[in-house]
Amino acid sequence: MGSRFQVRRLASALGAEVRDVKLAGCDGEVIAEIRRLLLEHQVLFFPDQHLDDAEHVAFGENFGELEGHPHLANADEEQRLFVLKASRGGVADEWHSDLSFLPQPALFSVLQLMKCPEVGGDTLWANTALAFEELSPPLRDLCEGLSALHNAEPHGRPEVMHIHPVVRVHPETGRKILFVNEHFTRRIVELSVEESTLLLDYLQSWITRPRFTVRYSWRPGTVAIWDNRCTQHNVLNDFEGERIIQRITIMGDEPRGEEPRWTPYARPGGPSDTSRYDRMLRNFLKEQAEARRG
Ligand SMILES: [Fe+2]
Repeated sequence: MGSRFQVRRLASALGAEVRDVKLAGCDGEVIAEIRRLLLEHQVLFFPDQHLDDAEHVAFGENFGELEGHPHLANADEEQRLFVLKASRGGVADEWHSDLSFLPQPALFSVLQLMKCPEVGGDTLWANTALAFEELSPPLRDLCEGLSALHNAEPHGRPEVMHIHPVVRVHPETGRKILFVNEHFTRRIVELSVEESTLLLDYLQSWITRPRFTVRYSWRPGTVAIWDNRCTQHNVLNDFEGERIIQRITIMGDEPRGEEPRWTPYARPGGPSDTSRYDRMLRNFLKEQAEARRG
């Protein structure tokens, strides 16, 4: 579909670079077109924007309420704009969608590259709707009946957790999406820990096959916006110089999918707590049950 902007697709799976648009102070029509392009391409890149802090926040607010990052301290006063500085690694180099351990995970993230290393530090995104659609029918069917426990262990907060459907439905496009990731998903609720590990490993390696991905090389002043409902991303930890980003996150909605078709796994003849993720799941389910009883 044509656009009023200059749009160049970067890979067949997802991703487009958008030029001829100024994000600072843009109007409602521009935002509506960006929303449309985002549904079409899942991640958009806008080179040469150089937004200041206020412009970055104002641009993000066009898409909904901003979410403070629950576990990062280096934010602005209102806890909305986060600056992440890294040199020699220290970046999120495991595949993830942002804040998937929350009951309402992040909807969009808006990131501006402030300073780039001379080489390296690219980011990759994967299209998790396409990855679901290209699974075989029996595996799609199995995944749709499962749920998974996510937690904030990578942020040092393993007690912050939530259970989401393994397959969520995108509320705007209706597409079904694999919603498990390497960084935050710990355990499929209805499977034994061994089966869960195998299936999660398989799904992650499937989602991140090169043909479902796009890779982007940054320039300072480039702004990216992506839909966390239907993508995962990963920063390449292959740089030595300084890499500074500023990011804001737009509040999300509750992932919707089918109800689990099975009860939480219990090892026949006894408790299933053979691993710490089993124990974590058992305790979480117990807490949920107690909360429901009030
Ligand atoms: Fe991220």
